[in-house]
Amino acid sequence: MVFPMSKVRKAVIPAAGLGTRFLPATKTVPKEMLPIIDRPILMYIVEEAVRAGIEDIVLVAGRGKHAIEDFFDVSYELEDKLARDGKDAWLESLRKIRDAANIISIRQMRPLGLGHAIGCAKPIIGSEPFAVLLGDEIMIADKDKPTVTGQLARSFEQSGMSTVAVMEVPASETHKYGIVEGETTAMPDGGTRIRVGNVIEKPTAGQSSSRWALPGRYVFDASIFGHIASTKPGKNGEIQLTDAMVAVAKEKGLLAQTFTSRRFDAGDKLGYLQANIELALEHPELGTALRQYLQTLGKTL
Ligand code: G1P
Repeated sequence: MVFPMSKVRKAVIPAAGLGTRFLPATKTVPKEMLPIIDRPILMYIVEEAVRAGIEDIVLVAGRGKHAIEDFFDVSYELEDKLARDGKDAWLESLRKIRDAANIISIRQMRPLGLGHAIGCAKPIIGSEPFAVLLGDEIMIADKDKPTVTGQLARSFEQSGMSTVAVMEVPASETHKYGIVEGETTAMPDGGTRIRVGNVIEKPTAGQSSSRWALPGRYVFDASIFGHIASTKPGKNGEIQLTDAMVAVAKEKGLLAQTFTSRRFDAGDKLGYLQANIELALEHPELGTALRQYLQTLGKTL
């Protein structure tokens, strides 16, 4: 059954973290602005959202994140110079960034956790369903395949139920993620879908036997705002999105499903390097030269 009024048009991108894993670079540069080749991580996240049909993006920034807001603003001096120098291609790429979506920037006044950050977007999201995309993870969909956010939005539009992305991780890594428990079913495309019974934020050893981890892509209906408002501080004293998700699962039901994109953990130094190398190997201007360089390195490793 299709719910015609439930198209997912809005998204929230929380960008209020301190980026401690990338210090000292992140002392002055927000982690979302660190480049993968020549584009900030945030650009990949925005592009995923836009490809999924998102029109309005709410950026929830913290203190010292002017660079993020400026990135989506007009840079008059730079654009004027590029126009005078006849650098039309560069000018066009800057304009494309601005025109990608309506970017609405708001502040999370206090760092009270991911759930709280999402709750800050309520005045802009209102009663519409919305996607959440965390900037730590970059998801690259093949050209002919839907994005992760697109897959979740379709699930929401078809089932009317909030749907989140999951991936299977080794037991040794479950402590890094929100972990979903529930009844699994096979999807026609070969993926797995879970009717979520419980969600545990970063379980300690023995706290959960499930290995279904949340990689930071979600689609919720607006009822989650009420649950966030009544969520008490949980793991690490923070208002956790995962705790509000448990309330959604109990009240209206919550689905979790696997996805087809390639995923890079850009919030981790090794994952960040892997994203740079893999995407540079596919880059039309860099791929051949980088491959040759890596082959020469390979002989000495
Ligand atoms: C957050 C969420 C966690 C999720 C993770 C994905 O944790 O709280 O549930 O699995 O993002 O990256 P963080 O990594 O911000 O501590």
